[in-house]
Amino acid sequence: MYLKETKEIFKKASDSGYAIIQFNISSADQMKAVVEISKKVKAPVLFGTSDGERKFFGARQAVEMAKLYGEETGLPVILNADHAKSFEKVKEAVEAGYNSIHFDGSELEYEENIRQTKEAVDYIKSIDANISIEGELGRIGGTGASKVFTEKVVADESMYTDPLQAIDFIERTGVDRLGISVGTIHGISTAVGGEENLKMERISEIKEKLKGKCVLVLHGGSGVPSEQIKEAVKRGIVKINVNTELRVAFSGAIKKSLNECETTPYKFLDAGIKEMEKVVEDKILLSGSNGKI
Ligand code: 13P
Repeated sequence: MYLKETKEIFKKASDSGYAIIQFNISSADQMKAVVEISKKVKAPVLFGTSDGERKFFGARQAVEMAKLYGEETGLPVILNADHAKSFEKVKEAVEAGYNSIHFDGSELEYEENIRQTKEAVDYIKSIDANISIEGELGRIGGTGASKVFTEKVVADESMYTDPLQAIDFIERTGVDRLGISVGTIHGISTAVGGEENLKMERISEIKEKLKGKCVLVLHGGSGVPSEQIKEAVKRGIVKINVNTELRVAFSGAIKKSLNECETTPYKFLDAGIKEMEKVVEDKILLSGSNGKI
């Protein structure tokens, strides 16, 4: 079912020590890959659409498809407006019926991030208090694009989330979830020295400071070694965002199919879906959210 109350599902994951993966999608085809595997492994479904993905898909179209998949499968379905960077984008997603919103003010100066995040939280709560709201503090490495970089792209320490600011931020904004910077980048860097290394101690310090008042979110989930994902979940990460690895799998298989002169859309798209399903299954199993329905 398309959830009315989305906070509860994150709380349950937090209490039980597993994470839910947000899979970024921009079409119904990609949603299909997420749903097929979630059904198979009995995991809750969490779709994400960035501003660009939402613009392409259509906010209302994404909501209606998410509702349909929820109805058909009986699985809990969440649709998150990922990295909404302005009040207008938040409003557009809420009006379309999104049941989860991420306001990203991380590029703003600290007090301005608090002010704009609080404005988004107040507005969302005045419309529907059941919507789960994410804020972001600290800077994730990269340009923001979920793509493969051949040059070295890293997140340096000056960008990491400060644990003391984190508690101040959540108390003053009232967000339910916090996206933190602990060494990841958006995208994958294939250059020597571009490997992603999570700062586990930083995750633990932030978790300790927040004392269960807020759910911790790891952005930039692509390219993070499996063992590190598992360790991050152990240390308290409850939501992990994955995009680039899905895009690489989907587009790579479609390219191959097109190179083999396939012209039937439901055939070359299906090749993309099947390849994307492998990534989805792998990530769900790492997060531990399988078997939770
Ligand atoms: P990746 O593209 O690195 O998986 O990051 C996705 C993300 O954080 C979306 O919010």
